[in-house]
Amino acid sequence: MNGIKAEDFRKLFRRLTTGVTLIAVDGENGPAGMTVNSLTPVSLDPPLLLFCASASSATAKRIATIGAFSVNILAGHQQDVSMHHAGRPLATPTWCWRESHGVPWIDGANAVFRCRFVEEYPGGDHRILIGQIEEMFGPETAATPLLYHGGQYARLPYEDGDVANVPRTEDLWWTG
Ligand SMILES: Cc1cc2nc3c(=O)[nH]c(=O)nc-3n(C[C@H](O)[C@H](O)[C@H](O)COP(=O)(O)O)c2cc1C
Repeated sequence: MNGIKAEDFRKLFRRLTTGVTLIAVDGENGPAGMTVNSLTPVSLDPPLLLFCASASSATAKRIATIGAFSVNILAGHQQDVSMHHAGRPLATPTWCWRESHGVPWIDGANAVFRCRFVEEYPGGDHRILIGQIEEMFGPETAATPLLYHGGQYARLPYEDGDVANVPRTEDLWWTG
């Protein structure tokens, strides 16, 4: 690894706090998906986003076959959704699937982006998948989000519904 140790790479990137998303796809036996924190908005015109998926990801392979997926930005109360789709399945799912144009999405998410799979690029042991947003929606008021920091789940110190009222220390200058 060119002198870069995997343990150091992981240790330092654990300091990058992120939200948590569920990438959902119409699987062979109903809705399927994977937990992802590598989501990035890419372009407004056309509306594009990307995420990185391990070369071994079953979800990414399915997306390439089906050609469509959804991105669901998870709320703080959806940790079980995240764990289930990150290789720690629950015996009894507690969430509710919905569907739009044949693409599954998850009830209770803070935002949902239904995408057409447009392209993928190699990225070392991962693949970079690009989706074009065809539909997007979310609740009027976002719940406190699910975060990932230091290798564990975290929450903002605000209750659901209060996030919009957090005092701003500066103007919103970048909305990308
Ligand atoms: C918070 C969190 C974020 C994750 N982000 C990614 C990611 O961005 N890309 C990735 O390939 N795997 C990521 N994973 C791991 C996948 O969710 C996990 O390997 C999953 O089981 C892959 O499922 P699949 O093989 O069915 O697609 C993440 C896991 C967690 C808990």
